[in-house]
Amino acid sequence: MPVIFGKAPGKIILFGEHAVVYGQPAIAMPVSRVNATARVTPNISASPGLVRMIAPDIDLDAPLDHLAEDHPLASAVRATLAEVSPHHTPAFTIQINSTIPISAGMGSGAAVTVAIIRALSAFLGRPLSEPQISELAFEVEKIHHGTPSGIDNTVIAYRKPVYFQKGMPLEILQVEKSTHWVIADSGEKTPTKTTVSAVRDLYENNPQVYGEIFDQMGTLSNDARPALISGDLPTLGQLMNKNQALLQSLQVSSAKLDDLCQAALAAGALGAKLSGGGRGGNMIALAAQEDCDRISQALEEAGATKTIVTTLGEATE
Ligand code: MEV
Repeated sequence: MPVIFGKAPGKIILFGEHAVVYGQPAIAMPVSRVNATARVTPNISASPGLVRMIAPDIDLDAPLDHLAEDHPLASAVRATLAEVSPHHTPAFTIQINSTIPISAGMGSGAAVTVAIIRALSAFLGRPLSEPQISELAFEVEKIHHGTPSGIDNTVIAYRKPVYFQKGMPLEILQVEKSTHWVIADSGEKTPTKTTVSAVRDLYENNPQVYGEIFDQMGTLSNDARPALISGDLPTLGQLMNKNQALLQSLQVSSAKLDDLCQAALAAGALGAKLSGGGRGGNMIALAAQEDCDRISQALEEAGATKTIVTTLGEATE
């Protein structure tokens, strides 16, 4: 058995986060400038079934059976073993690394899970397809995130821009023109589970008002889809700003995210919004290619801890 690598990108949500949990469409794209990797090495001298888990980012080096049932990395390994090789576990070491910021809206949890499933299923001689990887990652996401919509595991497993709606066939977006995006980390962190459950409380207390906000967000995603495909930047920018205003009414923005959005717009971005669960994490700005560096700099001056420039429409691996 050779050493096997599995890789998974980060992601950003362009339109429709939170509303997607309530059945509205949303649009997301992979970001391969940051990624999670899993490396599986056979351990020929150890007895079958001995699995060693190493994750330097979280100071983990332990046998799989010492880790709790709901440990995020262990549950991804266990789910893959159960799916692919339920009757025989060879001895192996799996090392997980990630450059995706944690609790920052870029899908770090789903990416680590996808990297593990991809590497381990290949190592066990039964490489899973993208739909299978996505489905298994969704099961693991449910253990940690309560009520995920499924958009994170989908965009990360397929590594393609997606128009996603729960319970509907997936649409991979084939864009005709590239668009350029600046991603900026606010440095604040809130787990997605926390913001999703805060939004649920709002919705349950006032389904009429919040249901209407979700509907409006779904309309923005539907309007954004053709604009994204044709590269209509002014329309996309306006839709992003409207989406950000609706996210503010869901109380998932923060003063820092609002400041970063304003800084991006003042520096020439066509639109700006938070991306992902919110209350910190990352925001995104849409920009003409030649303005991206200036906008990145403005965002860093406004307090972003890190910026990434990425393009939608280039081949992603
Ligand atoms: C998280 O990336 C997106 C949310 O809509 C949660 C979900 O869809 O599961 C906030």
